[in-house]
This record gives sequence, structure tokens and C-alpha cells, in this order.
Amino acid sequence: MPEVATHNPEETTALGRSWGQSAEPGLVVGMTGKLGAGKTQIVKGMAQGLGIKDRVLSPTFSLVHQYTSGRIPLVHIDLYRLDTPSQVIGAGLEQFIYDPTTVVVIEWVERWFGNEPPALVPPGVYRAVRIETLGETSRRITYDDTRA
Ligand SMILES: Nc1ncnc2c1ncn2[C@@H]1O[C@H](COP(=O)(O)OP(=O)(O)O)[C@@H](O)[C@H]1O
Ligand SMILES: [Mg+2]
Repeated sequence: MPEVATHNPEETTALGRSWGQSAEPGLVVGMTGKLGAGKTQIVKGMAQGLGIKDRVLSPTFSLVHQYTSGRIPLVHIDLYRLDTPSQVIGAGLEQFIYDPTTVVVIEWVERWFGNEPPALVPPGVYRAVRIETLGETSRRITYDDTRA
């Protein structure tokens, strides 16, 4: 399983940027990691890599932000304020992961799927990402792709 060590926010953003540059429609990135781990930093990088010029802010209250100015539409979901899968479904978020034309990135994904990858529509790829906080600026990022 790929593992990347980062030592400052810029290195984490750079990893996200490379994912954004190589992303294909149907990619769903699900991220686990405690508050301040760097999940949103990765999304900022993905937006850059997709050529999105808008500023990326965490959709902590709105649950979802959509960016359409890049190479592929980006959907950014943050489940921090939700606790259970039924709340996620109730909030109407399920439709997004079944859209094979977008890139979707989800913070606090374990609140929705636990440790299971979601069922995707082909040609979707699910990238399971775990960010561990090792120190003030030290992070270990592991990820693994499952293809629909
Ligand atoms: N190596 C690193 N990778 C990512 N963020 C880092 C790193 N070192 C320090 N930070 C800081 O940690 C915070 C991460 O915030 P954020 O991306 O919003 O976390 P999350 O979305 O996981 O809650 C930022 O303030 C960032 O500057
Ligand atoms: Mg965040």
C-alpha cells in the first residue's frame, strides 16, 4: 500500500495536487484522520491539480461544495457534523458517489462507510486514504485504490 511521509503542509498539498493532475472522472477519495490531520490540505492540492482557481474552504456547515471551473468537476464533502450513515443518506449525499463524471473527495468518510469501500459505478476508482498525525508537522499518509 503506498505510504507517503510529509513534513509540512505544502508537501501534503503537493500529494493532493498530483492526485488532481492524474484524476479521471469517477474517482472517489475517502479520507480518515483526526481534526487537523491535513484532509482539507489534500483537497486544496487536488483542486489545484484539477486546475480549479476558486479558493477551497471546508464545507463543514454546508456538508458539500462543488467546483466546476477545473478539468473535471470536483465535489468536496465533509461529514464532520454527521454521526451515522443514515444521517448521511438523509442529507442527500448518496447521489454524489454514483456520478461517474465527477471527482468526489470525502472527509471523515468512516462516518459513512466504516472501513468498507462504497459500491461505485464503473469506471469508478475508490481511493481509501488514512492520515496519521505523528507530530506537530509530521504526517503519514497511506492510501489504497479499489476499482469498481
Ligand atoms: N505535514 C502536514 N500536512 C498537512 N497539514 C499540516 C502538516 N503540518 C502541519 N499542518 C497543519 O495542520 C493543519 C491541517 O488542517 P486541515 O487540512 O484543515 O485538517 P483536517 O481537514 O484534517 O481537519 C493545517 O493548519 C496545516 O497547516
Ligand atoms: Mg477538514
